Amino acid sequence: MSTPETVDLHVYARAYGEDFTADPYPVYARLRERGPVHHVRTADTGAMWLVVGHDEARAALADSRLSKNWQSLLPDGDVSGGFASHMLDADPPRHTRLRKLVSREFTPRRVEALRPRVQAITDDLVEAMLPGGSADLVDALAFPLPMTVICELLGVPDLDRKAFRGWSNEIVGPTGPEAEADAVQAMSEYLVELIEDKRCAAPRDDLLSALIRTRYEDGDRLSSDELVGMAFLLLVAGHETTVNLIANGVLALLRHPDQLAALRADPGLLDGAVEEMLRYDGPVETTTWRFARETLEIGGVRVPSGDSVLIALASADRDPGRYPAPDTFDIRRSPQGHLAFGHGIHYCLGAPLARLEGRIAVRTLLDRCPGLALAADPAALTWRPGLLIRGVHRLPVTF
Ligand code: HEM
Repeated sequence: MSTPETVDLHVYARAYGEDFTADPYPVYARLRERGPVHHVRTADTGAMWLVVGHDEARAALADSRLSKNWQSLLPDGDVSGGFASHMLDADPPRHTRLRKLVSREFTPRRVEALRPRVQAITDDLVEAMLPGGSADLVDALAFPLPMTVICELLGVPDLDRKAFRGWSNEIVGPTGPEAEADAVQAMSEYLVELIEDKRCAAPRDDLLSALIRTRYEDGDRLSSDELVGMAFLLLVAGHETTVNLIANGVLALLRHPDQLAALRADPGLLDGAVEEMLRYDGPVETTTWRFARETLEIGGVRVPSGDSVLIALASADRDPGRYPAPDTFDIRRSPQGHLAFGHGIHYCLGAPLARLEGRIAVRTLLDRCPGLALAADPAALTWRPGLLIRGVHRLPVTF
C-alpha cells in the first residue's frame, strides 16, 4: 500500500491556469491518471481522502467500514444535535429506522402520482417567465419548481423560501465559518418553530403531519431532534440538488446545439438525456463526509482509522475506464450505473422525484421555448462554492 503526498486542489488547479470551482473536471482527470484515491485539502477543508476512480467510488459507497455518523467521533459519542440528527448522518440501525419512516412516500409509484401537479407547477412557472423574453432560469424555474414540490409534499406551502434558500445555500456551500454558524442557528430556530406551529395546527394529510403523528402517537419513535433533522434533510436535499439538475442540464444542452437539436427532433430521447445530464455535470460533486471506523484500504491506498473520506461522484462519472470519451456530452449514451445519486444504503431517497421533475422541466422548456438560447458567455457564469454542490448561481437565457 502507498501513502501519497497531500494535494491542495485549488493550488493544483491554479498551477495549470484553471479555476477548480468553475471547472473541476481537468483536475479530477489528472488525479485519476495518477491513481484512484488521493490525500487532498482545499482552502476551506482540512486534509481528507478523495476517491476519484469509478470502481473505487462505488466500492467505497457500499463499504460499511466508512461511517456517516460523525457524532460518534465526538468525545462523549453524543447522538443528538438539532437538525444534524438525520438519516444521512446516521449508520444502521438508526439509519434503517429513519429511512423506513419516509421511504414509502418516495417509491416510483407514489412519485408518479405527483406527475400532474409537477406538470401544473412547471406550466405556471414557464407561463409566468415567457412574456419577459429573457430570464434567469435558476430564479424562474430551476429553484421554484423543486422547492414548491417538496414544500407541498411536506405540507409547508407558506415556507419563507427566500430566507430558507439563503440559509440552505450557506449550509451546503459555506462562504465562511461565521456565516455558516449563523445560517445553522437561524435554520434550526426556524424549523423548530415551523414544526411547533404544524403540531398545533389541525392535522393534515401531508408528510410532516404524518411524521409528527408518528412522534406523538407511536411511543416517541421520532425524537424532536430527529423530526427537525428529517424536515431539514428533506427540504434541503429536495431542492438544493434538483435546481442544479435543471440548470446544469439545460446549460449542457445549450452548449451542445447538436444534442439539443437531436432531443428536439426525438422527444423519446428525454429520459436518457436526463441521465446523461446527471452523469456529465451532476448536482452533487462530492458526497457528504464519511469517516474510517478502522484502518482500511481503498484502491491500494491505506486510509487510517478516524480519517475523513469524500467520494468525488463528478470524477467517478467521468472515469474513462467506465465511460468512453467521458468529457463528451452524448444524450444517446445510456450512462447506466452513474453515481450521481450515490450508491449503497444512502442512495438518494428522492431519485424518482428528481427524475420526474427534471424530465418535466426540460420537456416543458423545449416545448414552450423554441428559441431557447444562452444569454451569457459560458465562461462568465459563476459557480456555487464548496465541494458538495455543483451548480451555477444564475443561468441567463432568452426564449
Ligand atoms: C437531481 C437531484 C438529486 C441528486 C443528484 C441527489 C443526490 C443525492 C446523493 C448523491 C445522495 C447520497 C449522498 C451521500 O451518500 O453522501 C443523496 C441522498 C439523499 N437524497 Fe438526494 N439527490 C437529489 C434529489 C433529491 C430529492 C428531490 C430529495 C427529496 C426527497 C432527496 C433526498 C435525499 C435524501 C433524504 C438522502 C439521504 C438518504 C439516506 O441517507 O439514506 N434528494 N441524494
